[in-house]
Amino acid sequence: MSDQAANLRKRINQMNGENSAKTISVVSGKGGVGKSNFSLNFAITLAKRDNKVLLFDLDIGMGNVDILMGLQAKQTIVDLYEKELSVYDIIESGPYSLSYIAGGSGLKELFQMSEEKQRFFLNQLDELILEYDYIIFDMGAGASLDTIHYILASDEIFVISTPEPTSIMDAYAMMKHIHYYDQSKSMHLLVNQASSKKEGEQTTKRLQQVMKRFLQKDISSLGVLPKDKVVSKAVLTQTPFSMFNPDAKISRALEELVANYETGTARKRMNGSSTFINKLIKFVKER
Ligand SMILES: Nc1ncnc2c1ncn2[C@@H]1O[C@H](COP(=O)(O)OP(=O)(O)O)[C@@H](O)[C@H]1O
Ligand SMILES: [Mg+2]
Repeated sequence: MSDQAANLRKRINQMNGENSAKTISVVSGKGGVGKSNFSLNFAITLAKRDNKVLLFDLDIGMGNVDILMGLQAKQTIVDLYEKELSVYDIIESGPYSLSYIAGGSGLKELFQMSEEKQRFFLNQLDELILEYDYIIFDMGAGASLDTIHYILASDEIFVISTPEPTSIMDAYAMMKHIHYYDQSKSMHLLVNQASSKKEGEQTTKRLQQVMKRFLQKDISSLGVLPKDKVVSKAVLTQTPFSMFNPDAKISRALEELVANYETGTARKRMNGSSTFINKLIKFVKER
């Protein structure tokens, strides 16, 4: 089949809601809860299970996923404009064929560029939607005006909290903020750094209860990950924890979480074509 015919077939599949990547934003209210470590290891675990996964570092000014896997990104999205590269030129390859795009330090300027320039980027991103099974955005803490669009355009939002009361309050504030913009948004809660399964489940329940009580919103639970010393050891050696020690408590818990996620809601593909890009274009226009 010619390239053109293959692309056309891909398009048609995409319009039927098949073959288009599920886009996931990983967010939190407070920083340092484990978003980057989770995003990276979640992406790797999905990739290990034969999914084609792209991890996109969108933490403005603080991107560090490449450091966590001991890579030095050669190009960033910022280079895409400055050197007029294609999006494929800036994709790095990580473990288990995981693809990775580094945000780069000029992200903030990039988000504030003209509609035309943003469209150039979004068209490139549109191509990727056909290529991957999952595209995961590692976002910064909180939501700025620049990044909220990416969060709202994503098919799913993973909100991470730890059991600490401050983290719970901030996660609640973040979910409330997202809910204010879009009441139909699908949000999943992950409790990270739990001292026990029970503590994790209590935290989940508390947040689910306040969301239901004050906002009449149901939040599903993605699961609980334990506090595990292996994480900081892995960070020190610049190896993702799931590879540093696949038998560690946290690595096993993550395997289980990913398996549950995949068999559960994961395969419910979105209807309609490339909702993600269409939504983003709409946001850029409305600015
Ligand atoms: N499950 C965990 N168990 C123990 N320490 C953790 C865990 N998750 C994260 N950490 C610690 O928290 C630090 C910050 O994690 P990071 O993923 O960079 O957070 P964020 O991206 O939310 O700012 C890590 O360097 C690690 O030491
Ligand atoms: Mg981070």
